[in-house]
Amino acid sequence: MSEAILEGMSEAILEGMSEAILEGMSEAILEGMSEAILEGVSEAILEGVSEAVLAAEEICHTYPGGVLALAGLSLTVPRGCRLAVLGANGCGKTTLFLHLNGSLQPGRGRIVVGGVPAAYDRAALTAWRGRVGLVLQDPDDQLFAATVAEDVSFGPLNLGLSVAEVRARVAEALAMVGIEALAARPTHMLSYGQKRRVTLAGVLAMRPEVILLDEPTAGLDAQGAELLLASLEALNAGGTTLVFSTHDIDFAYGWADRVAVLAGGRCLREGPPGEVLANSGLLAQAGLRRPLMVEIAEAAGLPHGGRDEILAGLADRARR
Ligand SMILES: Nc1ncnc2c1ncn2[C@@H]1O[C@H](COP(=O)(O)OP(=O)(O)O)[C@@H](O)[C@H]1O
Ligand SMILES: [Mg+2]
Repeated sequence: MSEAILEGMSEAILEGMSEAILEGMSEAILEGMSEAILEGVSEAILEGVSEAVLAAEEICHTYPGGVLALAGLSLTVPRGCRLAVLGANGCGKTTLFLHLNGSLQPGRGRIVVGGVPAAYDRAALTAWRGRVGLVLQDPDDQLFAATVAEDVSFGPLNLGLSVAEVRARVAEALAMVGIEALAARPTHMLSYGQKRRVTLAGVLAMRPEVILLDEPTAGLDAQGAELLLASLEALNAGGTTLVFSTHDIDFAYGWADRVAVLAGGRCLREGPPGEVLANSGLLAQAGLRRPLMVEIAEAAGLPHGGRDEILAGLADRARR
């Protein structure tokens, strides 16, 4: 029978079906499917594939002395987002950030940068640091050169750029955070807020795709925080992905477009703030309180949602 099948079928294929195939399918391919393919593939590229600019896959990290800081943490950073990493003290935020720019290597699991598993040789690390910049919480841990301009030049010089290019980048970075006038100032003669802006400028001069900021608003007064956020908003509008840790849940709720909730060295949930931060059980598990806006929405009997939705609901109530 197999011969009969082969002969019979191949004839059918060659004579009858091939026509149908050629006519029908090619039409389908050219008209219907190509559209689907073009739409589907480009969507996949825009959303699915390139969406994850950075990812941690089940990473574990134990510090010397046996402290398990990360216990199988997975997190995907969507390209172009403003992602707030939330969690109580000691939950692993700083340790995660040190892994996301290659300063620490996971004991288990892996980091994926732009879809490619990270490597830790010198060349790979230099390229990685050029793409993913980290601003540490304490500027004194990051600043080391004698003057502001020298400090901000260090990264771009390390990338092997020409002196002229480095100069241009340093000027641009200082202007972006509003400290052009401090270029020649010794770094030890700066205020805390100024030091924080110098460390951000040092990262900006690398023109990274992603900036990781560990507790960016901690220790800044209202005006300092506003200045910093204005710079970050401009960067984000230009396409830079921002990941910042904070335990200011109201700030995260109002400013982030994604939030990740960490507890015990793991990521419990990642998603839109209106959704994740309305989940009381989840927040309690992470030792976090609910955002004030969510409490107001609940007290007013308004549906939980994003900040804008709640404000619109309240404004509507006030008009009535
Ligand atoms: N250098 C270190 N040596 C030993 N343990 C550390 C070190 N840094 C952090 N840890 C521990 O790792 C855990 C996670 O810390 P960390 O990442 O700093 O959390 P977070 O930034 O969320 O406060 C904590 O238990 C902390 O005590
Ligand atoms: Mg920390």
